[in-house]
Amino acid sequence: MAPEPPLLTMSGITKSFPGVRALDGVDLEVQAGEVHCLLGQNGAGKSTLIKVLAGAHQPDDGAITWRGEPVQLSSPITAMRLGIATIYQELDLVEGLSVAENVFLGHEPTSAGFVVRTREARQGAAALLERLGHPEIDPARAVGDLSAAHQQIVSMARALSHDVRLIVMDEPSAALDPDEVDNLFRIVDGLTADGVAVVYISHRLEEIRRIGDRVTVLKDGRAVAVGLPAKSTPTRDVVALMTGRNVEYVFPDRPAPGSQDTAEPVLVVEGLCREGEFEPVDLELRPGEIVGLAGLVGSGRSEILETVFGARKPTAGRVLVAGAPLRPGSVRAAVAAGVGLAPEERKAQALLLTESVTRNVSVSSLSRFARAGWLDRGAERKAARAATRELSLRPDNPDAAVRTLSGGNQQKAVLARWLLRGCRVLLLDEPTRGVDVGARAELYAVIRRLADEGLAVLLVSSEVPEVLGLADRVLVLREGRVVHTADARELDEHRVLDLVMEGSPTS
Ligand SMILES: Nc1ncnc2c1ncn2[C@@H]1O[C@H](COP(=O)(O)OP(=O)(O)OP(=O)(O)O)[C@@H](O)[C@H]1O
Ligand SMILES: [Mg+2]
Repeated sequence: MAPEPPLLTMSGITKSFPGVRALDGVDLEVQAGEVHCLLGQNGAGKSTLIKVLAGAHQPDDGAITWRGEPVQLSSPITAMRLGIATIYQELDLVEGLSVAENVFLGHEPTSAGFVVRTREARQGAAALLERLGHPEIDPARAVGDLSAAHQQIVSMARALSHDVRLIVMDEPSAALDPDEVDNLFRIVDGLTADGVAVVYISHRLEEIRRIGDRVTVLKDGRAVAVGLPAKSTPTRDVVALMTGRNVEYVFPDRPAPGSQDTAEPVLVVEGLCREGEFEPVDLELRPGEIVGLAGLVGSGRSEILETVFGARKPTAGRVLVAGAPLRPGSVRAAVAAGVGLAPEERKAQALLLTESVTRNVSVSSLSRFARAGWLDRGAERKAARAATRELSLRPDNPDAAVRTLSGGNQQKAVLARWLLRGCRVLLLDEPTRGVDVGARAELYAVIRRLADEGLAVLLVSSEVPEVLGLADRVLVLREGRVVHTADARELDEHRVLDLVMEGSPTS
């Protein structure tokens, strides 16, 4: 018996954009029923490669075979018909349509002439959502009203509404909590057991160890290792392949304990509360301090940050910056007082996608570059560039449109903006989501250095080790309530997860 040919072979795939060769002769081979992981630094070409596979980009060169036959993936519909489905890093759902309409978008018209009849679509969507472990999502609801995590489930339901043989997931876990990641992995196990192949992109190495079979590593648009064993290749080797150097995944040193205690708090939060979202929170941040908020998605973390920033109006309580109360519900007042927010959903909330990197970085500081009514473009560019270089944003081109940056580099552009603005209080919501391992260590060092220079940082992250490694003090939240406050050195990951799940307060 002849051995089964690979499900998918991509060979010599090349793709250039104006000024960048995003892919330079990449090979990828995927077997039916395997989880094949793609690893690489921000901008390495992962998303571009899977967009070629999805028929969304046409390669300049290279060949693709599918189940032993050469194929041309000339459009997303062609790929979909062959059984290749993709869940993109930037979800491509239509916010104004319902869950059910999104799930069956792009299906062929039925004999009745409708795209899909509403009732059938709702029933079909409900069945898929159930299979995905989320029966609580209402098929009739508008997708725009769902959380990022639920939107992703809808995107997955859409993929499964077709007869898939290969499903590509571009950083699916970035928007998920630990237990939602467990659910995702159960889905992946179910798919592979049915012989479906999964191409999985993530910056979290521990995930790749858990569910991956093989790994292909991309660097600067080339595959530097193809099909390594996912479970047994040492992390050091993987990281060295990705970065071309040995990076340690370390957190910067903290200042000596007690060294910040003498300063007056720069941010004071008193009894701040939003009914139905979070219960009264009290908090003091001194210059130089990093305080972390740990908790699950939906525990009220982001809502607290946004209320401090004035983007949401509190039902009670107040926020003081350097002793002066802020006008509630006013972003303008918060920004004027020196508060900055790097939000979680960077694309929708923070970026001007069609504008240049420079403009995105300097947008909150434009008054600084105004000279007698004219914008000093030279100074704007120079300052923006210094901030983006500090974060190793790629490409190092101040004129590139932010839309064309890779996911992780878009995140860096948001952070660079707040670096440049020079605020006194920085609110960071998931600052390393989608940022690669090499750049993470740099980012941690930058955040700590800003704190050492006198900035106060309030940090939200779903990654417990990140909160524990970076923060001085940690507040653990559960269902809108602070259940524990402690020095970060007195906590470990296990304890935090217990508190987050059980919520038994001990202090
Ligand atoms: N539409 C586009 N126009 C111009 N350049 C692009 C476009 N899409 C991607 N690029 C460039 O191609 C390169 C590869 O980007 P890609 O999005 O594939 O990276 P990635 O590996 O997915 O990174 P990340 O981990 O940050 O998501 C980057 O330099 C990016 O700026
Ligand atoms: Mg990407």
